[in-house]
Amino acid sequence: MYVTRRAFVGLGAAAGVTVLGGRSATWFTGAPLAGRAQSAGNEARLTSVDGRLDVELVASEQWIALAGAPARLWSFNGQVPGPLLEVAAGDDVRIRLSNDLSESTNLHFHGLHVPPDGTADNIFLAVPPGEALAYVFRIPENHPAGLFWLHPHLHGSVARQVSLGLAAPLVIRGALDAIPEVAAAREHILVLQDFALDRLGRPVDPGMSALMAGREGSLVTVSGQARPRYAVEQDGLLRLRLLNASVSRFYRLSLEDHPLHIIATDGGSLAAPQRVEELLLAPGERRDVLVQGVRAGGSYRLMNLPYPRGSAGMMGGALGTRTPFEIATVVYEGRAGSPVGVPHTLGEMERLPPGPLRRTFVLSEAMGMVPGRGMGMRFLINGREFDHARIDDRVRLGDVEDWEYVNTTDMDHPMHVHTNAFQRVGADGQAQPAWLDGVVVPARGRARIRIRFTDFAGTAVQHCHILDHEDLGMMSTVKIEP
Ligand code: C2O
Ligand code: CU
Ligand code: CU
Repeated sequence: MYVTRRAFVGLGAAAGVTVLGGRSATWFTGAPLAGRAQSAGNEARLTSVDGRLDVELVASEQWIALAGAPARLWSFNGQVPGPLLEVAAGDDVRIRLSNDLSESTNLHFHGLHVPPDGTADNIFLAVPPGEALAYVFRIPENHPAGLFWLHPHLHGSVARQVSLGLAAPLVIRGALDAIPEVAAAREHILVLQDFALDRLGRPVDPGMSALMAGREGSLVTVSGQARPRYAVEQDGLLRLRLLNASVSRFYRLSLEDHPLHIIATDGGSLAAPQRVEELLLAPGERRDVLVQGVRAGGSYRLMNLPYPRGSAGMMGGALGTRTPFEIATVVYEGRAGSPVGVPHTLGEMERLPPGPLRRTFVLSEAMGMVPGRGMGMRFLINGREFDHARIDDRVRLGDVEDWEYVNTTDMDHPMHVHTNAFQRVGADGQAQPAWLDGVVVPARGRARIRIRFTDFAGTAVQHCHILDHEDLGMMSTVKIEP
C-alpha cells in the first residue's frame, strides 16, 4: 500500500498547531533551547511502498508553529518545511498538487533527472487557485541517491511563494545509504530557511531594494526550528544533510572543533569523503556531511559565518551575513557500542571528458519596470530577460558541453540548471569530480561548468537561484533536442 490521502491528512493534522502568546525576541541569539537533544524538524515522511509513491500536497495559507511561535505562512500539507518525500531509483511517482491558495502556483523537482516536459518536471505548467494537477514521472533506474527538493516555480512569483514557506525535501535512497558507516550514522535533514515576519508572525513585504539584492529574512530556521540540537554519540557518526531552501541567503557553515566530511554534493555521492573545516551553501544547493564524535563530550555550535555575497552598488552596502550566528547545536549523548569511523571510499565517480567551450552566458543588470513597484533593476542573461516563449539555446541529447558564466555585476549569482547535473571545471581545464546543479558565479568573476545532456529531450531552464533575480528576469531556456 502506498500512503493514502487519509494518512497524510492525518500527518498534517498532527503537525497543525495553535500557539498563543508573544513571540520572544530571543530566538536568534538568546538562551539555548531547553530539553534533551531531539530529532529536529519534520517527522512527517511520505515513503514509497512497492516502488510507488502516490501522495497529495495541498498548498494553503495558515498559521503554523515556526520556531516555537505562530507564523502566517504558506505550506504543503500544513507543514513548513513540507513533508519529506522518500523514494528509490526506479520508483513511480505521482504527486497531486492541490492549490488552496488565492493565486496560481506549480511544482519544480529541484535536482531530479526526470523529463522537463509533460506532467514531469515541467515548470511551464500552472495550477490556478482551487484546482489540482498530478505530476507523474518515474525516477530512472540509474538515478543517483541524494537529497533533492520541491518548490513552486511560476516565473514572477517564485521568490515570494518560497519565502512564505513552500518547500519540501525529497530523498532518493540508494547505494550511498547502504555503506555500513553511513547506514550506522544518525541521519537528519536540515532544511535551511529564512523568514521576514512582524511581531505577530505575519510576513513583511521586503520592499524594492531588498528584491534587487535578493530578500533575506532575519529569522533563520532549520527544518522549522530555531537552533535545534542534534545528538552525536562519542565515537559515533552523525549525518547532516543540508539543504539551502532560502530565497537568497548564503550559508557558510562550520561546526566548532569538528571537521565536516562531505560525502555527497547536489547530485549525489563523491568518490571519497572530503574533509573540510567549513562549507558554503548557496541558495538551492545541498551537501551531505558526516560528523564524527571525536570529542569527549559537550556541545558544539554549528555556526553561520560571515560571507559577503556582493554589494548592491549605488543602492546600498554589502550584502550577506556580517555577524556569525549559531544555527544549530551538536550535543554529545552516550557512546557508540562499537566505534564507527568515516568511510574511506564511497563509490565510483565519473569525470566528464574535456570538450571545447560551447557557450558563454553573460550575467548583467539593467533598469526596467518591476511589476507593481515601478522602475527598478532587471536581471539579464546575455542581455535578455526571460521569455518562456523564446528558445535561447539549443543543445543535443548525448552531447557534453562546457559553459562559462561571466558575471558583470557586483553581486554573486548562484546559477542553477534543470534536468541534468554538471561538474565544475577547474583552472586546469579538468572537471572536478562532484555532481552539482548549482554554481556560484562570484561578483565580477567567472565560473565554468561541464554538462552532459542525457535521457530526456525537452525544454529546460537555467537561472539564478537568488529567486528574486530569477523572477526579475535572470532565467533562460535550454532546448534539449533529440
Ligand atoms: Cu530550485 Cu529552477 O529551481
Ligand atoms: Cu531546479
Ligand atoms: Cu542572482
